[in-house]
Amino acid sequence: MRVRHAHAHDASAIRRLIDLYVADGTLLPRAEEYIAANAEHFLVAESDGHLTGCVHLDEYAPSLAELRSLAVDTAMQGKGIGSALVNATEALARQRGCVTLFAVSNDEAYFNRFGFLARHIPELDRERSEVSRYKGVFAKDIGVV
Ligand SMILES: CC(C)(COP(=O)(O)OP(=O)(O)OC[C@H]1O[C@@H](n2cnc3c(N)ncnc32)[C@H](O)[C@@H]1OP(=O)(O)O)[C@@H](O)C(=O)NCCC(=O)NCCS
Repeated sequence: MRVRHAHAHDASAIRRLIDLYVADGTLLPRAEEYIAANAEHFLVAESDGHLTGCVHLDEYAPSLAELRSLAVDTAMQGKGIGSALVNATEALARQRGCVTLFAVSNDEAYFNRFGFLARHIPELDRERSEVSRYKGVFAKDIGVV
């Protein structure tokens, strides 16, 4: 398994991975056109030539980025793919000058494992209605101002 930057032609496979978790409300849907146009901000996990996971680094504001659309194929969970994607997202965010990385999720225990802790992010408030059905916002400081 390796994690690499996504290409526009990965968009339909990425959309399929995200869609696995849209029906139950875990993830918000993403259009293929959006993914293709923003491919440089997506990372994918590839195993034996198949995409088995994806994640989106959404640069939300200067020095603030969101880890979103983290999805691992249901048949491939528990093999470290999610961890590899979270760690690669953190490295990419740091490389791009991001100081704080956050995720909006119901899965506090998972994000705690990587040092993300519940935090109020004031910049998020304008979007709060969209995310209010989620349990929380979990943030990690990854760089220096
Ligand atoms: C959450 C998700 C990305 C984890 O992917 P994964 O590849 O199965 O995760 P990993 O194999 O890297 O798991 C790493 C560790 O976290 C643990 N873990 C997995 N899911 C967990 C959860 N929901 N809560 C707490 N710990 C969890 C694993 O047991 C593993 O522990 P170990 O290192 O002691 O063996 C995957 O289950 C998924 O796609 N979920 C649906 C989408 C989602 O919830 N996205 C997050 C919100 S953006």
